[in-house]
Amino acid sequence: MQAINVSIGFDRRLAAQDLAGSRAHAAMLSKQGVISSEDAAAILGGLDVVEAEMKAGTFPFRDEYEDIHMNVEARLAELIGPAAGRLHTARSRNDQVAVDFRLWVKAACEQTVTQVETLQRALLAKAEANAETLMPGFTHLQPAQPVTFGHHLMAYVEMFGRDASRFRDAVARMNESPLGAAALAGSPYAIDRFATAQALGFDRPTANSLDSVSDRDFALEALSAASIASVHLSRLAEEIVIWTTPQFGFIGLSDAFTTGSSIMPQKRNPDAAELIRAKVGRVLGSLTQLTVVMKGLPLAYSKDMQEDKPPVFEAFDALDLSLSAMAGMIDDLTPNPERMAAAAGAGFSTATDLADWLVRALGLPFRQSHHITGQVVKRAEQLGVGLSDMPLQALQAIEPRITAEVFGVLTPAASVASRTSYGGTAPVRVREQISRWKAKLEKESLG
Ligand code: ARG
Repeated sequence: MQAINVSIGFDRRLAAQDLAGSRAHAAMLSKQGVISSEDAAAILGGLDVVEAEMKAGTFPFRDEYEDIHMNVEARLAELIGPAAGRLHTARSRNDQVAVDFRLWVKAACEQTVTQVETLQRALLAKAEANAETLMPGFTHLQPAQPVTFGHHLMAYVEMFGRDASRFRDAVARMNESPLGAAALAGSPYAIDRFATAQALGFDRPTANSLDSVSDRDFALEALSAASIASVHLSRLAEEIVIWTTPQFGFIGLSDAFTTGSSIMPQKRNPDAAELIRAKVGRVLGSLTQLTVVMKGLPLAYSKDMQEDKPPVFEAFDALDLSLSAMAGMIDDLTPNPERMAAAAGAGFSTATDLADWLVRALGLPFRQSHHITGQVVKRAEQLGVGLSDMPLQALQAIEPRITAEVFGVLTPAASVASRTSYGGTAPVRVREQISRWKAKLEKESLG
């Protein structure tokens, strides 16, 4: 029984939250006259000792006391005697674990937002330095149209911005205190749930005692946000893996973020990127795990819910590592502008620019210009040249009205500079977005 029942091995990570909850509860009980101020003082003093023991690493975590709640209470009894028994008045482990876990998940979400913003700042700095660095933009991982490296990085700034906002939204919804719901039905004592909610930094108490002790959707929501953020991280990680191959050679990573091979001395493997790419498995697995634990559970508390914590800890540990490693890698990476520019011009990447020129300069319908461009690409392929190196006569053999003016739009730099629509890849637009994000992050770090 003890082996299957025990949770102290993992829920000791709720120790700080458990102490905070107990302090708020004891102070409120005393203020409401439910326990004497002497008992409350003894309890609060004892909790300070417990905290000091935990900090010093001398606190005895014991399996026979099952979980963090009973470990703290048992130690408190050893330290202060019978007064310890009054702490659990008007409380149950059901609302106790609910409030501890909410506090933990809320803090984890807030910490994640900070880390996401650190990553965004790293991306912004790289984007600013590379607002004009040409690279191929891809669809289907085939060269499509030239873009800038800055623009590409800014796409991730947008994604991570939505991730941060998802964590903030989750915090706003979970910001209610379940403490005082007691076992499931509420309490007959004159407790003040608004006071404990406020003391613990919640907006208000939860409004239904049954819901308070059986809701874990705050954790599911946090895991959903974590899963989506991990998906974004894995996509960026995959791009880093691709870009660092000798075949692409778009960027380099220093020894700080690569590993060598035990047998092939020439190798520099992007292990950190690969591990970030893989971590989404743990995070999404955790969401699946907790969703399945919760499915079909009748109200209110069931012991199944003790299994809520390991997946959440695992997911946030993985996300924490991934975000730190990704921010480090973004700082570390050095682009290779020559390789990127050469690739940006390959694959007839300015074909759309030619088609657009035919529309603008010759007034052709886009469908017709698309057809002519197709013939030009075919001819360029036969001649073994890029579009900007096509002889004018060869172009005119296909469409006689084409003039030398066309060469002004056929380079990747011209192509990129022309895409000035809002959100486009033109360096002027990219710099605008960089400034907007810098101001936004500046404001957020101020409060
Ligand atoms: N360790 C338990 C958990 O994490 C605490 C709540 C126990 N409640 C109960 N009625 N047995 O869920």
